[in-house]
Amino acid sequence: MIVGTDGREHAMGSGQRTTVAAGDGIRYSTGFGNEHSSEAVPGALPIGRNSPQRAPLGLYAEQLSGSAFTEPRDTSRRSWLYRIRPSAAHPPYTRISQGALRGTPFDETVPDPNRLRWDPLPEPPAGTDFVAGLWTLGGNGDIRQRSGMAVHLYHANASMRDRVFGNADGELLIVPERGTVLLRTEFGVLEAGPGHIALIPRGVRFRVELPDGAARGYVCENYGRPFVLPELGPIGANGLAAARDFEAPVAAYEDVERPVEVITKFCGHLWAAVHDHSPLDVVAWHGSHVPYRYDLRRFNVIGSISYDHPDPSIFTVLTSPSDTPGLANADFVVFAPRWLVGEDTFRPPYFHRNVMSEYMGLIEGAYDAKAEGFVPGGGSLHNMMSAHGPDRETFERASAAELVPAKVADGLAFMFETRWPVTLSAAAVGEHRPQHGYDNVWEGLQRHFTA
Ligand SMILES: [Fe+2]
Repeated sequence: MIVGTDGREHAMGSGQRTTVAAGDGIRYSTGFGNEHSSEAVPGALPIGRNSPQRAPLGLYAEQLSGSAFTEPRDTSRRSWLYRIRPSAAHPPYTRISQGALRGTPFDETVPDPNRLRWDPLPEPPAGTDFVAGLWTLGGNGDIRQRSGMAVHLYHANASMRDRVFGNADGELLIVPERGTVLLRTEFGVLEAGPGHIALIPRGVRFRVELPDGAARGYVCENYGRPFVLPELGPIGANGLAAARDFEAPVAAYEDVERPVEVITKFCGHLWAAVHDHSPLDVVAWHGSHVPYRYDLRRFNVIGSISYDHPDPSIFTVLTSPSDTPGLANADFVVFAPRWLVGEDTFRPPYFHRNVMSEYMGLIEGAYDAKAEGFVPGGGSLHNMMSAHGPDRETFERASAAELVPAKVADGLAFMFETRWPVTLSAAAVGEHRPQHGYDNVWEGLQRHFTA
């Protein structure tokens, strides 16, 4: 069974079924890393082969590869798209302004060992769409070697109109903080508001519309291996983010014959070509290289039920592996509502110095290790080996608190953690510089040594 954009299920000869979750009038196909298939028009998807001599309904067959052809099955990903025009039908690309978007090498500044924290970005100028509103905080690695990541923020107040974006440099993990983004992709429509994340794989084209009129949030651009679910080890077969809670689009296409600016980010720079049609013209598709969204409120938070605060890796939603087992190119970690029950335990995150580098953002509420100054839309960077942890007020309160079961209920914070230090863009130390005096939150931690 296949579900089209009309919401009806259409019988197919294969007897296979695409599982569909309803929500907000948009339909989704559930699962992580599996083979999805979908068609917006009955009969558009070839059965039994990928590239028939003549594809159904006069469509063009095209493969989109997210991994090398010969990678092992567990890392292989590709999709077959059946579209009105092949992607190859386009004029030359030319360089366009990239605004505040930066890529590797991140060499505008010297890597900074200080603890740094930023307020939210100011409101953008009127008419700023998602692409124009991308602002790079910093990053690491090498786009050309497909390693490392970048931390971007976005702030926008206009929908993209006759503009489509695609990123050859890596996948985009979008973390909305304010306002919903409606992502019209080659694979169909995804909606993500605060509390959801959305992921656009490398190369997939999309347009961002803003049903709320404005939107703001964070983007982890992952140049490395695609995000996957972390191993569960002794946790067992269930826990953390469940594969079934990830939602891919169902096929939806637009048949538009007018000039559309198609922007591609290639090795850190923006290029554009005006097509004479919309490239969001995929009528049917199947495969594993697909966009998806995930509701962070569905994250199954696991923690200590005896003593000590677990290492924050227990909160990993998605991980981009490196060539070293257990060493992530980038992790996406969520600090979701949870119960704290540890006995004889300092319950907030402990003081630490980490070989990894941590960028934290806040989607809503407050974070339990910082009493103030860390606000939704803002962020903090604790680069490798920088000493951090609870602020003075949080330390004093948690050290004296009665250890009854307590719920951390009012916040949704997240972390992009990466193997290499994050080097800041010039803008992140210039026109949108860090807060003054962040170090002061650790000032006045009293000496209690009594020997
Ligand atoms: Fe940390």
